[in-house]
Amino acid sequence: MQLTSYDPSKFPKARAPTLPTPSPECFCLLPQPILAGVLTLENTLHLHSGRYALALALKQAKISSDDGVLLPAYHCLAMVEPLRLAGVRPVYYPINSDLSIDIIEIEKRSSGVKAIVAVHYFGFPQDFRLLRNLADRLGLILIEDCAHACFGAINGAPLGSLGDYAIASTMKFFPIGHGGVLASTRHRLVQPALKNPPLKIELKTVINLLENAHAYHRLGRLGRLLNILIQMKDNLLRKKRRSQPLTPSRNEATPEYVMDSRWLGWRSSRVSRFLLRHARTDDLIKRRRDVYRMFLGALAHRRDCRPLFPDLPEDVVPQVFPLYVNQCLPVFVNLKRQGVPIIRFGEFLDDPVDQELCPVSIDYAEHVLQFPCHQCLKDDEVAWVIERLIIALDTAESC
Ligand SMILES: Cc1ncc(COP(=O)(O)O)c(C=O)c1O
Repeated sequence: MQLTSYDPSKFPKARAPTLPTPSPECFCLLPQPILAGVLTLENTLHLHSGRYALALALKQAKISSDDGVLLPAYHCLAMVEPLRLAGVRPVYYPINSDLSIDIIEIEKRSSGVKAIVAVHYFGFPQDFRLLRNLADRLGLILIEDCAHACFGAINGAPLGSLGDYAIASTMKFFPIGHGGVLASTRHRLVQPALKNPPLKIELKTVINLLENAHAYHRLGRLGRLLNILIQMKDNLLRKKRRSQPLTPSRNEATPEYVMDSRWLGWRSSRVSRFLLRHARTDDLIKRRRDVYRMFLGALAHRRDCRPLFPDLPEDVVPQVFPLYVNQCLPVFVNLKRQGVPIIRFGEFLDDPVDQELCPVSIDYAEHVLQFPCHQCLKDDEVAWVIERLIIALDTAESC
C-alpha cells in the first residue's frame, strides 16, 4: 500500500533530543568565549527566537504593510509568520539545487519589493556577494538569515556581516530553551523599548529546561528529585484543569509557527541569556562536525539516499545532517513511529509555491529529512539513529 499521509499526533516523543538539551556538563561557571559568527557582530539584540528577530528586522528597516519582501521558495512557515504579522507581502523566489540563489530570478521579481531574505541553509555558508551588489543596485534591504548558521565566515567575512541585518536562532546551537538574535554591522539598531520578560516567564523557562533535560536523562541523581517535583506539578495542573471549563490550550489550538505577540516586546529571558554566556563552547564545533561525519560515513555510499552536502568544508558548523531520501515518506513515518528525532524544514510550503515557481523546493519539501547533529547527542544516541535509519532505508527498498 502506498503511504500518502500520516497523523503526526500518533508519533511518540523523540527518544533522543532534536535540539541541544541541557545537562550539567554543558555549562561552566565562567562566561565562555563567544565563537566568531553572528554573535560577534557589532550590534546585537537577544530575542525569543529567530522569527522574532526577523519581525524586528522588518521594523528596523521600516518595512510596512503592503511592501513586498522576497522569501526563498524553500522555507519554513516560521519565516513567513513575521511577514504576515507585519502585513508584509511575501514574494517567493526559486532556489537552485545546491541551495544557492540565481540573482536573475531576484531581479525579475524585484518590482514593489523592499527587502530580500537569503538563507545559509543547514549551516553551509552561501556566497551572497553578487546578491549584496544587486541589493545595492536596486536599493533592497538584505536580511541574512543565519538561523541555521550561527558560526563561521565566508570569503573572510563573518556570516551575517554582508546583510543589512542578520538574524540567528541560538536555541538551535545552544542548550538554552529559546533564543534568537538580531544583528547588524551596517546599521545602528534603533533600540526599541524591549523589556525583560516577567518573572513568570523566567520561571517557566527554567522549568521547561529542567523537564526537557530530565526527559532525556541528562540530570543524573538530580533527576530523581525532579521526578517527585514534576509529579507534584502534574497533579496540581490536573486538579486545576478539573475545576476549570474545558478550553483548548495554546499548544492544541495553535500551529507551532504562530507567534505570541507579547514576545515582540521582550528580550530573551535572563535565564537563556545567562546559559548562552556560560554554555561550553570548547568542543561545540568539533562535536557537531564529528557527528555530521558519522552520518556521512554511514550513508554516503547508498543509492537510495544522498547527503545534500556530501563534503564538510573546514569552517562549516552544521546545524543538521540533511539527507535526500528517494522513498522519503515511508522512511520518515517508519522512523517517527520509533521515536527517531527528525526535522523536516520546508515540509509545509506557503500556498503560492508550486512546481512551476520552484521545482527544487517542491522536490526538497517532499524528499529531504534532517537529522540532528548537535553537541549534546551522546555517541549511543547517534549510533541508534543511524542504525534505525539504515534499517528503514533497507525496508523501504525491499517493499
Ligand atoms: C531558515 C529559518 N529562518 C528562521 C527561522 C525562525 O527561527 P526560530 O525557530 O528560532 O524562530 C527558522 C526556524 O526554523 C528557519 O529555519
